[in-house]
Amino acid sequence: MSITAIKGFNDLLPAESGLWQFIEDTARRVFSSFGFNEIRVPIVEKTELFCRSIGDTTDIVEKEMYTFTDKAGSSLTLRPEGTAGVIRALVERKLYAQESINKLYYMGPMFRHERPQKGRYRQFHQIGAEVTGAADPMIDAQLLLMVSRLFSELGLKEPTLQINSLGCPVCRPGYREALVNFLDERRDKLCEDCRRRISSNPLRALDCKVPGCVEATEGAPSMIGHLCTECDEHFKKVQSYLETAAVSFSINPRMVRGLDYYTRTTFELVTGLLGAQSAVAAGGRYDGLIEQLGGPSVPGIGFALGVERVALLLGDRCFERTPDLFIAIMGDASRSEAFRLMAALQHQGFWVESDYEGKSLKGQLRRADKLKARYSIVLGETELTSGKASLKLMADGSQQIIELLPELIAAAIKGE
Ligand code: HAM
Repeated sequence: MSITAIKGFNDLLPAESGLWQFIEDTARRVFSSFGFNEIRVPIVEKTELFCRSIGDTTDIVEKEMYTFTDKAGSSLTLRPEGTAGVIRALVERKLYAQESINKLYYMGPMFRHERPQKGRYRQFHQIGAEVTGAADPMIDAQLLLMVSRLFSELGLKEPTLQINSLGCPVCRPGYREALVNFLDERRDKLCEDCRRRISSNPLRALDCKVPGCVEATEGAPSMIGHLCTECDEHFKKVQSYLETAAVSFSINPRMVRGLDYYTRTTFELVTGLLGAQSAVAAGGRYDGLIEQLGGPSVPGIGFALGVERVALLLGDRCFERTPDLFIAIMGDASRSEAFRLMAALQHQGFWVESDYEGKSLKGQLRRADKLKARYSIVLGETELTSGKASLKLMADGSQQIIELLPELIAAAIKGE
């Protein structure tokens, strides 16, 4: 029996890779125009890094990590997200000492042992960006402006931006207490997980999809109503900057994130087009994380999008490149002339195909059609003797006689 891929782990086939390259290239272009540089960090990190940053009582750490013991007996984990590794690198390499503000982006595979379904996989890919060193609400708005620019450059009207504030260590405890009291009074109506969450991670109860919990938590106190003066001002300024930049958003006071490092501004880009997987991108501020991972007290904010989800939203758009020219060959002498022309045109960046299988002329032209070559040329004895051939535009069959000189063929293909 042949060996198959692991459930939830996908191959990206050539027919789809053009779309992914478009997403990645667009992200690189937009990120660099906002001053971000790429960072590449390992896919495997010490397990403790994720426990300490994402939080021991989150679903990711409790249930979803690919953790294993290596031959030296160390507990290692395939990264479930990108922020922890980037901040580990920032602290370990002391990037904060070289630059007061670091703007970093990354792209690559992440791993979570979730139940696979459309838009949710066990190996998935994120494109993310992190800014460290700035607490000013202007940077929150800059990041959101960049995310919204990225989606518009991708040609997507969906998803829409929802924001919330999760407060800070000054105001969160008071809110937590109010929420715990609220949940305690409704304990009987909550699912088993949420009953456990009351003491471990009460905010997560607001995100539970079990209908009884959704109903029981209606009217739950919101963090926004409990923000301290500083957090309240910060949140208001973020909104005002977003309005200035004409970035549309709505406030979702029930938004809680599945990672514990967040403070103040959090956000999600959501869509109704992907069924249960509504979040296409998400992120927020994590002002305590750098210190928590052994660095100085430096604030941070970032986001990540799910490439598979963006690709689903972009749908069947064709990003496949097709050959510029197919050179069909009749006879051995034409083969070396075809090779010479191909090499010269390829040197100029054209995609040129020819026959490598000794097919009949009909077979070669059928292949040119299948490859969707834009132009074709047939090279036989007559063409070699005259030094001219007919260049055919495959779409409408129109032909022009052209000298067999690479620069003239190149100009004709370019439409000059
Ligand atoms: P997250 O919300 O866990 O945040 O993931 C961000 C995005 O990754 C999601 O909105 C979704 O598009 C995609 N995603 C997550 N899990 C899966 C999955 N199993 N299959 C397919 N796509 C998935 C973070 O990871 C944070 N590190 C974001 C961040 C960066 N916050 C601050 N900086």
